[in-house]
Amino acid sequence: MTIRQVTNPSEKAAISRSVLEALRDWFEVDESRETYIRESKEWPFFAAFDGETPAGFLCLKETGKQTVELAVMGVLKEYHRQGIGRQLFDAAAGYARNAGYQFMQVKTVKEGVYPDYDATNRFYQSLGFCELEVFPDLWDRDNPCQVYIMNLQKSDPGLDLLMRRRSYRGKYRPVPVPREDLKAIMEAGLAAPSGCNKQTTSLIAVDDPAVLEKLHRVIDPPAGATAPAMICVLTRRIYAYRDRCFSVQDYSAAIENMLLAAVALGYQSCWYEGHITDEDRIGRKMADLLGVPENYDLVCFLPVGVAESEPAAPRKKSFDERAWFNGFPS
Ligand SMILES: Cc1cc2nc3c(=O)[nH]c(=O)nc-3n(C[C@H](O)[C@H](O)[C@H](O)COP(=O)(O)O)c2cc1C
Repeated sequence: MTIRQVTNPSEKAAISRSVLEALRDWFEVDESRETYIRESKEWPFFAAFDGETPAGFLCLKETGKQTVELAVMGVLKEYHRQGIGRQLFDAAAGYARNAGYQFMQVKTVKEGVYPDYDATNRFYQSLGFCELEVFPDLWDRDNPCQVYIMNLQKSDPGLDLLMRRRSYRGKYRPVPVPREDLKAIMEAGLAAPSGCNKQTTSLIAVDDPAVLEKLHRVIDPPAGATAPAMICVLTRRIYAYRDRCFSVQDYSAAIENMLLAAVALGYQSCWYEGHITDEDRIGRKMADLLGVPENYDLVCFLPVGVAESEPAAPRKKSFDERAWFNGFPS
C-alpha cells in the first residue's frame, strides 16, 4: 500500500468518486456525495493505492487561518482494518503541520447514536482527537454533531504513541508476527529501567501454534486466544539491597515498554496479569508447559498480533482528578 498526495484535480475527482460511490452506507445522500467529489478537487488530497488501484482517500479543508478540517475520508470496505485510515491521517497531519496549521478538527455523529458512527468516534479518539463540543442542531436532531479537535503543533510521535496505547481484548487477524518484530518488542522490554539494575525480568516469546495451543488450553477464561504470538513475562525475586526487592516495579516497566513497542510496530496487545496470578495459578501451569524453573514466576502474558478491530477507549478520570501542581488540592 502506498500513500501519496494527489494534486491533479481530475485524478482527485476520479478517486473520490470511486471510493465514495462504493461507500453508500456512509455517503448515501447523492447531493452531498457529489458536493464532496466536486469540492475535493480544490482541497489537499491524500490517497492510498494498492498497486494502481485507489483503496481510500482523505481531504483537508481550511476552516480558519490556523485550522484545517478533516473534511472527508473513505477507505473501501475490503481494505478496512489494515491501518490505512491511520496512514492517510499521518500523511495529512504531517502536511498540515508543515503548512503551519495549529489545529485539526473533524465532525461526526456523536457517540451513542449509531454503532457505525461509534466506531468512527473510537477511530478519531485513537488518533488523538479530543472532544470539543456537541452541536445538536448543526445537521439535524437525529444526527447530533460531535466536533473533535487536535493540536497539531504540540504533538510528538513518542507522546502520540503513548497516548494511543489501549488494552486490546478483541480478535486478532491470522497474520504471523515476524520474529524480528517479536525480538524488537522484547528488546524494548529488556531496555526498561530496573531497581539497582538487578534486571529481574525475563521473557519468552511464543509463536509456535502448537505451543500457543497448549498454553491457551490452561488460560481460563480464554484471553487473546486468536493472537498469533504471545510474550510471557517471567520474574525472579532478586533483592536489590537489604530486604528491598523491586521485581514488581521492574517487570511493570518492562511490560509498559513492550506494550508501547507493539503499538509502534502496528500491533495490539493487553496486559494479562490478574487473569493468571489468582489462586488457580494459571501462570505456574503456563510456566511448567514452557519448562520454566521454579525460581521464576510467570506473572503476565501479552498477546501480540494485528487487531481485527479498533481498541475500545476506556473512560479515564480527568487530569484534575488525579494530578496537581505544588500540593494536594484543598
Ligand atoms: C497490573 C495489571 C494487571 C492487568 N491485568 C489484566 C487482566 O488480567 N485482564 C485484562 O483484561 N486486563 C488487565 N489489565 C489491563 C487493565 O484492565 C487496563 O490497563 C485498564 O482497564 C485501562 O485500560 P487501558 O490499558 O486501555 O488504558 C491489567 C493492567 C495492569 C496494569
